[in-house]
Amino acid sequence: MEGKVLCTGIRHRSLPEKYVRPESERPKLTEISDCEDVPVVDLGSGDKSQINQQIGDACRLFGFFQVINHGVSADAVEEMMKVAEEFFKLPVEEKMKFYSEDPSKTMRLSTSFNVQKETVHNWRDYLRLHCWPLEQFAPEWPSEPSSFKEVVSRYIEEVRALGLRLEEAIAESLGLERNCIKDTLGEQGQHMAINYYPPCPEPELTYGLPGHTDPNALTILLQDLHVCGLQVLIKGRWVAVKPYPNAFVINIGDQLQALSNGIYKSVWHRAVVNADKPRISVASFLCPADDAVISAPPPLTADGSTAVYRSFTYPEYYKKFWSRNLDQEHCMELFRN
Ligand code: OGA
Ligand code: NI
Repeated sequence: MEGKVLCTGIRHRSLPEKYVRPESERPKLTEISDCEDVPVVDLGSGDKSQINQQIGDACRLFGFFQVINHGVSADAVEEMMKVAEEFFKLPVEEKMKFYSEDPSKTMRLSTSFNVQKETVHNWRDYLRLHCWPLEQFAPEWPSEPSSFKEVVSRYIEEVRALGLRLEEAIAESLGLERNCIKDTLGEQGQHMAINYYPPCPEPELTYGLPGHTDPNALTILLQDLHVCGLQVLIKGRWVAVKPYPNAFVINIGDQLQALSNGIYKSVWHRAVVNADKPRISVASFLCPADDAVISAPPPLTADGSTAVYRSFTYPEYYKKFWSRNLDQEHCMELFRN
């Protein structure tokens, strides 16, 4: 069992075979340039129409943007990162109590992406939590470190408020009623992946996470401030999104691509690893309620343009998503009309 995770505290001297990508699939790290395009949107600027415009442009062109002055307190962010770090430093026997390869589990420590389906593994461990409603899920979370539940609960509440506010801005940027997206998605679920990428002996041969799109509605990513790793596919080229102080990286997930009738893009992104330092990221995912019917709202198809995707529910979508390997065609394609 213990051999399964990477977070054992032992440094690997060479990259085990099962992590080595075939030559044509490697990340070509020396060719990657920094991303100049993904905008940093100042949510505290007070100019709502400008904010909506920036968000709309970013969603259409890149599927990604960053936000500052976002209302999540610096304290909550700092504590979240600290408790994440402490969790992965726990003795491996302690952590293995949470280990599972079953994606339907609501709380689990796992490794790579989809161990059951993939042929090559990824240089990542992650703790995945269902988070909302808090009182339903918090009791099953780790109780070590002792502050875990309290710190993570606070972070989740603050990030949720940001996410809902962004969904309002995204709706308005599409010319929809402010609450249209939120209403369509129903009482949204919230999941969290606390990603841990240990130092990797041969980072040019493997991934932390290979190229994928996020299956949920909206993702709010807290990046390690000191260690780069996130890359986004923009105009056919992979570019690095460098950590920006006090920012979150926001991306459109597959559900918002569907709801926007394909106007906003759920874009391919990946995480690469490095030889020197561990990297932690905390991804928060807002997800449609199970019974919400996902289809483009009438104003987006009113001008005679047809719905690009057939309607579906999130459980139906999620099952399809996890039954594939990550680096296949965009999962949305399976729902095209
Ligand atoms: C994810 C993800 C990127 C990162 O968890 O879905 O894309 O930088 N993470 O860890
Ligand atoms: Ni992702």
